[in-house]
Amino acid sequence: MATVSRRAFLNRSALTVAGFTAAASQARRAAAVEAGPVAANDKLRLALIGCGGMGRGDLETFLENPEVDCPLICDVDDAQLDKAAQAIERLRKGRPERVNDFRRVMDSRNIDLCLVATPDHWHALPTIHACQAGKDVYVEKPLATSIAEGRAMLHAARKADRVVQMGTQWRSGSHYGDAVDFVQSGKLGKIRLVRMWAALTWIEGIGKPADGVPPSGVDYDMWLGPAKERPFNPARFHFTFRWFWDYAGGLMTDWGVHLINIAHWAMRAGMPRSVCSTGGKFVLDDMSQTPDTQVALFEYPDFTMIWEHQAVGNHGIRRREHGVEFLGTAGALVVDANGWEVMPVPGKGLEPFQAPGTTDAARSRHVRNFLDCVGSRRRPVTDVEIGHQVSTIAHLGNVALRSGRKIVWDAEKEQASGDSAANEFVAKAYRKPWTLPT
Ligand SMILES: NC(=O)c1ccc[n+]([C@@H]2O[C@H](COP(=O)([O-])OP(=O)(O)OC[C@H]3O[C@@H](n4cnc5c(N)ncnc54)[C@H](O)[C@@H]3O)[C@@H](O)[C@H]2O)c1
Repeated sequence: MATVSRRAFLNRSALTVAGFTAAASQARRAAAVEAGPVAANDKLRLALIGCGGMGRGDLETFLENPEVDCPLICDVDDAQLDKAAQAIERLRKGRPERVNDFRRVMDSRNIDLCLVATPDHWHALPTIHACQAGKDVYVEKPLATSIAEGRAMLHAARKADRVVQMGTQWRSGSHYGDAVDFVQSGKLGKIRLVRMWAALTWIEGIGKPADGVPPSGVDYDMWLGPAKERPFNPARFHFTFRWFWDYAGGLMTDWGVHLINIAHWAMRAGMPRSVCSTGGKFVLDDMSQTPDTQVALFEYPDFTMIWEHQAVGNHGIRRREHGVEFLGTAGALVVDANGWEVMPVPGKGLEPFQAPGTTDAARSRHVRNFLDCVGSRRRPVTDVEIGHQVSTIAHLGNVALRSGRKIVWDAEKEQASGDSAANEFVAKAYRKPWTLPT
């Protein structure tokens, strides 16, 4: 597997114009972080932005690779910084520099790569500014909280010629690749229906806690960032932010992107022509906003795709917690994290088949693919353009649900055709002083 020395990497990575105003940039440069105590000169130097559960998990995966060091970590919560620092001390025997404002990461000339694992509403700006500052980016899924943000991220990555991988690691799971090869072989006959589902029985309600004061050591205004101002509430914070429209899109985007990614990869699909969706909060009596039950129907030129999720409950007749099922005229194939299975239509010459999964390696391979692409300057397996496409489809499920419309999607313009009410949900207003570079 290719590795790259830091010097060679920097030679290949022409720095581009930073997107900040000159005055703001100058002010920050005065406080620039010269990250350094951990990494040696020939290392790839990673900055972790967002040190929560996923950020720390991804960090450990990056540090499986000996050429990667993490000399700089960023979070708006000091307690989260402590946890990430402990992981780095354990794995690399050095202390990382710590910052609360991601713009100081952009100013650090010694950082090559950014790992963005903030809540979804904070994916776009760090990714865009990292690209503008000449850094390659591994950004968690979904790409962003809106279709417009995803477009801006794709634009920034291409303009600055950066490698940007979205963290849908199943794309790198080898058994998913085998299942996709089988689907693409044509042995299932004509595939006219693709079903995806997530029946997450472990999800519980988040209650209805009262607003309160942020924990000490948390810069809550910076946690909100471009999202609407509102008092702190513990249920709208770490991890459970994903059940609130201001910060994320519920299970439709949280799990939808993983499964849509597999479905699209196998079907070599473009954008759907239309989308409709229904659902609601039928089970959870708590303060979450996103539906506990949702179905979305995507119409493509020659097949139909169905998304279905439920929080709480059971898996129903499908037995599996989640999965993607390809229904062809000669048989069906179902794939999930545990493996894949072919179920033939009798008399069509297809044999039943089952193979186990290889999920554990998927994240390592996904990160490795990103690092290899940083060296080769090739596009990674979930390049930002693929990330934008699959995230857009997941967002469209929510646009249809929230607007109550059947969306006829103009993929060229990235707008719902002739539907200003639906288009209200395509972009998200940013709270000042934050703006989305376009
Ligand atoms: N690939 C996967 O399978 C997978 C699994 C889980 C989560 N995720 C994704 O990872 C992301 C993080 O999820 P999580 O569950 O770890 O959330 P989390 O709430 O546990 O962690 C997010 C962290 O980001 C920090 N943060 C918030 N605003 C920040 C800012 N402006 N600058 C720096 N740090 C900031 C928070 O303080 C928190 O520590 C989400 O986008 C989620 O969808 C991906």
